[in-house]
Amino acid sequence: MNIKVRQGEIQKQVADILIVNLFSGASPGGASEVVDKALGGQISAAIELGDFNGSAGETLLLYGGDKITAPRVLVVGLGDKGDFNTESARSAAGTAIGALNRLGVRSAATILHGAGAGNLPVETAAQAVAEASLLAAYRFDGYRSQLRPHPLERLTVVEFDRSKIAAARRGIRRGLAIAAATSLARDLINHPGSAATPAYLARTARRIAKAHDLRCKVLDERGIKKLGMGALLAVGQGSANKPRFIALEHGPPRGAPLVFVGKGITFDSGGLSLKSVEGIRGMKADMSGAAAVFGALQAVAAIGLKRRVVGLVAAAENMPSATAFRPDDVLRTLSGKTIEILSTDAEGRLVLADALTYAARYKPAAVVDLATLTGACVTALGHHAAGLFANDDDLAAQLLAAGQHTGEKLWRLPLWPEYRAQIDSDIADMKNSGGRPGGAATAAALLREFTDYPWAHLDIAGTARTATGQPYVPRGSVGFGVRLLTQLALDWSKRP
Ligand code: BES
Ligand code: MN
Ligand code: ZN
Repeated sequence: MNIKVRQGEIQKQVADILIVNLFSGASPGGASEVVDKALGGQISAAIELGDFNGSAGETLLLYGGDKITAPRVLVVGLGDKGDFNTESARSAAGTAIGALNRLGVRSAATILHGAGAGNLPVETAAQAVAEASLLAAYRFDGYRSQLRPHPLERLTVVEFDRSKIAAARRGIRRGLAIAAATSLARDLINHPGSAATPAYLARTARRIAKAHDLRCKVLDERGIKKLGMGALLAVGQGSANKPRFIALEHGPPRGAPLVFVGKGITFDSGGLSLKSVEGIRGMKADMSGAAAVFGALQAVAAIGLKRRVVGLVAAAENMPSATAFRPDDVLRTLSGKTIEILSTDAEGRLVLADALTYAARYKPAAVVDLATLTGACVTALGHHAAGLFANDDDLAAQLLAAGQHTGEKLWRLPLWPEYRAQIDSDIADMKNSGGRPGGAATAAALLREFTDYPWAHLDIAGTARTATGQPYVPRGSVGFGVRLLTQLALDWSKRP
């Protein structure tokens, strides 16, 4: 989809459909009022008859009068004016694109939801509309024999006020970059494990680095072994698809960087602690943390962030075989600390342990890891929020603020020492499972053992795949974390 900004009046645009909006319980104002008049009062009539109210998620489809060039008009509800925020603008744009997808129209002209009575800065509104429109139009057709034609080809964002055009363009450019990065993450997650192997993730990192001028380092199985990443090595040793350790670096190689770490299990069968028929399904998405890290690095590079950001991915396939690691094995991690294996299905924390140890080499300002780490987190928070664990309140607050802004909900969970006691081992420094009680927190307690810097862990097991209910998130992969990490990096780069 191609998005353009144009200065002009919405009712004069040549397109298959015009998109205007309405706050709940309001009467048409601004561009919606102009369009209502051009349609002979059809919007007002629908409101009066009680057919349309302007609630969030609501749409009204109308057909043109002779005072309007486009043959159709879609009115989208913005919800309560008092609750309006950036997420409402994204939802409105997503709802509109959803309706357009069903109609099969090829071109549309839209006003900027929220830039008028919604009181959002123009740049913010433009970013929200571009980002959500592209994300709502996202489809993954990689495995269909028949290509489905993309219905919406052109979206024109129409702004009447000349003085707002430059800001609208800036916002749209940023929205495009962030949506492209989120789509990259969604694609990686949607590919099955047979395609998106650790080597494929490494090739993707190299491709991103080349296109966006990032530095990229890849360790293969030999390099991982030589360095002493005994945990990543063990998790990957049962698969024919050998593990990789991947580093992507943005910005000048000086100054303390922000480091993002992603769990890159390209398929999690559980290993010898094999998952059940139901439990194994969807485990191609166990590299969603890695996908988010790649997406965020691409986005900060495309935006041209002035600070240093590093992305680290520990990629492996967790398979049962004659060479697989076993329950009862003891692994020596890169840090020197040892871990007794209770379940080979608690593999994410193992690969992250080595990646978090590696992260210390950058003398980071802060480290954030993302991982589809525990079913327990899904039980606790469902699909609506990621679990946030942090050893630093300032970093936790920054993440919560970034998530609030991007519409990616986080909920802080505890890192009390009691959880650490639950993973005491009889023969090693710790064991890799603390049992069922507090499963998300005991996993986080293990990760903490490998951090000596401001650190936060996001358990995205519940938010990575199943739709969160947002209109701009189609079924399948969400790309959760790309927009959040990018926002965090943008906010952080503005700090002194
Ligand atoms: N990748 C899974 C966690 C997961 C579960 C992600 C459901 C998405 C949806 C992880 O590697 C895992 O298997 N965790 C185990 C840990 C247990 C063995 C201590 C779990 O949550 O059951
Ligand atoms: Mn597992
Ligand atoms: Zn896993």
